[in-house]
Amino acid sequence: MQEQIKKLRKLNETVELSGGVERINKQHQAGKLSARERIDKLLDPGTFEEIDKYVVHRENNFGMTKQKYLGDGVVTGYGQINGQTVFVFAQDFTVFGGSLAEMFAQKICKIMDMATKVGAPVIGLNDSGGARIQEGVKSLAGYADIFLRNSLCSGLIPQISAIMGPCAGGAVYSPALTDFIFMVKDTSYMFITGPDVVKTVTHEDVTKEELGGTMTHNTKSGVAHFAAENDLDCLARIRELMSYLPQNNMMEPPFVPNTDDPNRTDDTIEQLVPVNPNTPYDMKDIITRVVDDGVFFEIMEHNAKNIVIGFSRLNGKTIGVVGNQPSILAGALDINASTKAARFVRFCDCFNIPILTLVDVPGFLPGVAQEYDGIIRHGAKLLYAYCEATVPKVTLITRKAYGGAYDVMSSKHIRGDINYAYPIAEIAVMGPDGAVNILNRKELSEASNPVETKDKLVNEYRENFANPYRAAELGYIDEVIEPAFTRPKLVRAFELMANKRITNPPKKHSNLPL
Ligand code: HXC
Repeated sequence: MQEQIKKLRKLNETVELSGGVERINKQHQAGKLSARERIDKLLDPGTFEEIDKYVVHRENNFGMTKQKYLGDGVVTGYGQINGQTVFVFAQDFTVFGGSLAEMFAQKICKIMDMATKVGAPVIGLNDSGGARIQEGVKSLAGYADIFLRNSLCSGLIPQISAIMGPCAGGAVYSPALTDFIFMVKDTSYMFITGPDVVKTVTHEDVTKEELGGTMTHNTKSGVAHFAAENDLDCLARIRELMSYLPQNNMMEPPFVPNTDDPNRTDDTIEQLVPVNPNTPYDMKDIITRVVDDGVFFEIMEHNAKNIVIGFSRLNGKTIGVVGNQPSILAGALDINASTKAARFVRFCDCFNIPILTLVDVPGFLPGVAQEYDGIIRHGAKLLYAYCEATVPKVTLITRKAYGGAYDVMSSKHIRGDINYAYPIAEIAVMGPDGAVNILNRKELSEASNPVETKDKLVNEYRENFANPYRAAELGYIDEVIEPAFTRPKLVRAFELMANKRITNPPKKHSNLPL
């Protein structure tokens, strides 16, 4: 037995060497950690259990028989983050550039199947040259096997992707099917085809950073949700994200003991929201004054800044926060804001995360470009997401709630459970200016002093319609609250709704406007 144990230890040492010391050094010189170092930093110390470390490929062409590496270029297994089980795979760029092939894919599929069976999240650390060229269609089949599982696991277990190196071709589509994508500045790229192919096909000159770098996907395309400074920052932020998420769709998010007084009032909130409806302010200032210890874990902070989304806690329990951002585009809903928030609302609904919606919205953004690009279709996504969501939904209108955007932003009519408004809230079909222009066109054109007449009419309209009390009279607003009491009101509302149980009609699946 001692002989065999020695042999096993030797084998395990070889596994640790991946593609060799030289290639590991090259990885470090590029500012990247190795696959094993990444797993080590991601998981709670000493919790990683590796699976399939002796797997090798079975390709004989291209001289591959002589090039076999234990593990075949991907490290797979399970461990814990904050004491909760997660499955993890880390693509190893030192073995065939982390390229995906038959056995490599089978290893990933195996842990995805296990994760689905036991109900635990899957975290993929991607660093790959795409399909392994030597294995041809077997590599393509391997990708498809993973895509199928990504789709079937969606909504059952959280799936997180980190892009920690080049990801080309098939390597981008599995992350795109997962819930959240992290990218690392300066070292990670995502594209269907690289700059050379782009040049050949479209004659466009573009660098890989411009085409698919971290900030491109965090600002322009909206493909990525987080931009990390480096590998360590990326892994630390994945750990933080996981602290808000449940293990699966049947479980509640983890409770974190709370020391921030749930009855804490805050007189400064009143000064944060300007009475003048055209003066901007930062909705994040309200969020951080209200949630536990002022901690707001923002998602997609660089994209569609006219809406903010992220996780926080109220009295120790995870909530998803969606807020219009009056400091950007006056908080109007455009295509990007609608799709950003819609996907987040759906994620929260999949995983039993109650949603707080903070509303200050002048409406959908008007314009030819928005209409041509389909604001109707994309805006409908957000409407649809809120309508179908059955998790607790608490809404606070801080100032403006106009037009269709009032309906969309978790209004009472689409099953908002508790709907609050501040006393300066304006809830109407449109703002006073637009309304007076339409309703009083004749009167204004005939007025001897049109400016004075318009001011008078605008003030009358504001007095009569642009306030929260018309909506409150009808029960569409449950209570008009003083800003200082926002935290205790929200804590109690979510506590009331903690045991909410409603279901949508049974069906095969819905037909979300895509
Ligand atoms: C096999 C690959 C490989 C691949 C890289 N390598 N990509 N081996 N198949 N797809 C190997 C290299 O031969 C090299 O081996 C090692 O990995 C490191 O690669 P380098 O080129 O030296 O590294 P670097 O300069 O950092 O460039 C990384 C790279 C580049 C940008 C990823 O290698 C590259 O462009 N690779 C090809 C990308 C690609 O087109 N993939 C196919 C996409 S099509 P040695 O032995 O020298 O260390 C696809 C279809 C799937 O994925 C569709 C499913 C829907």
